[in-house]
Amino acid sequence: MYKIPARTLFAGKNLVYVPQCHSTNTLAAELGQKVETPEGTVVITDHQSAGRGQRGNAWEAQPGKNLTFSLILKPGFLEAKDQFQLNEAISVGIAQYVASRLVNPIAIKWPNDILVQDKKVCGILIENHLNGETIGCSIVGIGLNINQKSFNEPNAESIGTITGKEYSLRDEFEMLLHAVEGCYLTLKKGKHVELENRYLDLLYRKDQIHLFAAGNEVFEGIISGVSGVGKLRINVGGTERTFGAKEVAFL
Ligand code: BTN
Repeated sequence: MYKIPARTLFAGKNLVYVPQCHSTNTLAAELGQKVETPEGTVVITDHQSAGRGQRGNAWEAQPGKNLTFSLILKPGFLEAKDQFQLNEAISVGIAQYVASRLVNPIAIKWPNDILVQDKKVCGILIENHLNGETIGCSIVGIGLNINQKSFNEPNAESIGTITGKEYSLRDEFEMLLHAVEGCYLTLKKGKHVELENRYLDLLYRKDQIHLFAAGNEVFEGIISGVSGVGKLRINVGGTERTFGAKEVAFL
């Protein structure tokens, strides 16, 4: 069903298709540990029975309707302390692809949800395996909603529900992978500042007053950016506070 993308340099050239699996991230992590697995290997499936999301959540997608795959990267050039740069590169690549398919405004909700008009069309789960002080292997799991028309989750949407069209998963896969590979290569060239600026330009609710919750505390604040280690910076009454992924919720 899927074909090796012609437009990429290395991403997806080794394509592992399985009709069904628990989680492509889990399969890809096993493959990624092997030295003979080339960088750019993609594990892709029509149906995950135990798809994994961020913060231990499940990722649900109707079989055969969406893109669910994991890209194996070996970013040995990236120090572990800079791993959020990879998150920025991947998020910007996916946002670039989504923007090329829609006329609607796109946003990246920190750390890496891709939103179209406040609704999530794509989730990303990046699992890094460290090798000393650098990243030996990174499993970039991408769940992109394409042709699914109804969702249990009220804040989810697909490209197809927005445009009313039906898409070829194989063609969208190639375009998406091309955009992601491009941003990854930009990162590899050392241009992380360029990627960070694009990430910040797209950052959801940046520079606007909104309500947040941290533990039992509810407060108004203004997102001002992201720290070097990927914590969300929120200006609360003139004081900057930073929050990790499990420490703050958008209300
Ligand atoms: C999120 O919670 O937003 C992240 C969702 C990531 C889902 C993708 S689907 C392919 C890959 N395999 C998984 O088990 N999860 C990721």
